[in-house]
Amino acid sequence: MTSIVEIHDLVKRFAPTPEKPEGTLAVAGISMKVEEGEIFSFLGPNGAGKTTTISMMSGLLAPTSGDVSIGGFSITKQPLEVKRLIGVVPQEIALYPELSARRNIEFFGRLYGLEGKELSARCDEVLDFVGLRDRQKERIDTFSGGMKRRVNIAVGLMHRPKLVFMDEPTVGVDPQSRRNILDAVKLLNEQGMTVLYTTHYMEEAEELSNRVAIIDHGKIIGIGKQIELLQQIGEKDRLLIKLNPETTAQAAEVAQKVKGVDKVNIEDGKLEILSSAGRRTLPLIITELDDAGYPPLSIEIVEPNLETVFLHLTGRALRD
Ligand SMILES: Nc1ncnc2c1ncn2[C@@H]1O[C@H](COP(=O)(O)OP(=O)(O)OP(=O)(O)O)[C@@H](O)[C@H]1O
Ligand SMILES: [Mg+2]
Repeated sequence: MTSIVEIHDLVKRFAPTPEKPEGTLAVAGISMKVEEGEIFSFLGPNGAGKTTTISMMSGLLAPTSGDVSIGGFSITKQPLEVKRLIGVVPQEIALYPELSARRNIEFFGRLYGLEGKELSARCDEVLDFVGLRDRQKERIDTFSGGMKRRVNIAVGLMHRPKLVFMDEPTVGVDPQSRRNILDAVKLLNEQGMTVLYTTHYMEEAEELSNRVAIIDHGKIIGIGKQIELLQQIGEKDRLLIKLNPETTAQAAEVAQKVKGVDKVNIEDGKLEILSSAGRRTLPLIITELDDAGYPPLSIEIVEPNLETVFLHLTGRALRD
């Protein structure tokens, strides 16, 4: 396997602000590789450092220290060579609202040196690809959030990059656009493009990725194929217990003390319990809760997933 991306001890410290006089260590030393042909996901909660990492990888932000090599070129020393290889779909929509979808795509295509027939043909291709050919003449400011995202993606693909960075491309979009975007990512990958995808949706990382890096507080806290990450946490089960909402907090304290319980969290008003022997621990938890006067209303055993891995590694839930 060939690595298309190599990240070497990447650090970004933002200068102090009145709100944060100590400054912000947004990326705290990340080293990893992305192999050619993969869909690789950064999975992490708000503020984890995903966008800061992508911004440094694409040359939009200078690292405090460390470097990234893409296709053998250093982003700090050979940024122009790197920029030819990569397409960037930023988290924030970057389009001209008063121009049509097509004019926007053409504009960015010209920046990459496309012109004439080639520009026009490539523009048709990317519009087809994101399913917006029939809406191409409409102004961006009349588009839904999902449609704007799709134009943003089209822009990032104009110059046929070998590697594309997509930063939370499905946040705030309608279900149809979301489906369209996820399918587009898979199709791009089948056509040979390497994709670096960031998300805080565990389901998207699970559906798309060959490998995942779980990022929290600017650090990679887990990396590998999903199955490897799940194996890391061992035979753990996740239990969801619904109780009278007024007693959930007290019940959490009771559950925490039960033998075999590793972590307890309150999620959507339910107790979320991580246990090393879920099925065997369950009767004990029920008895203890009952005895303490907090009888469960419903109980669910959930198969471990990336959410469980995150909970195990950080003691917190991934969701907002
Ligand atoms: N320009 C900046 N100046 C100061 N602090 C910043 C700046 N950009 C980001 N940060 C801080 O760096 C940390 C990481 O932010 P970043 O945007 O990389 O996170 P993220 O994982 O992309 O989060 P989200 O899921 O919300 O997009 C946060 O604490 C954020 O407040
Ligand atoms: Mg971000």
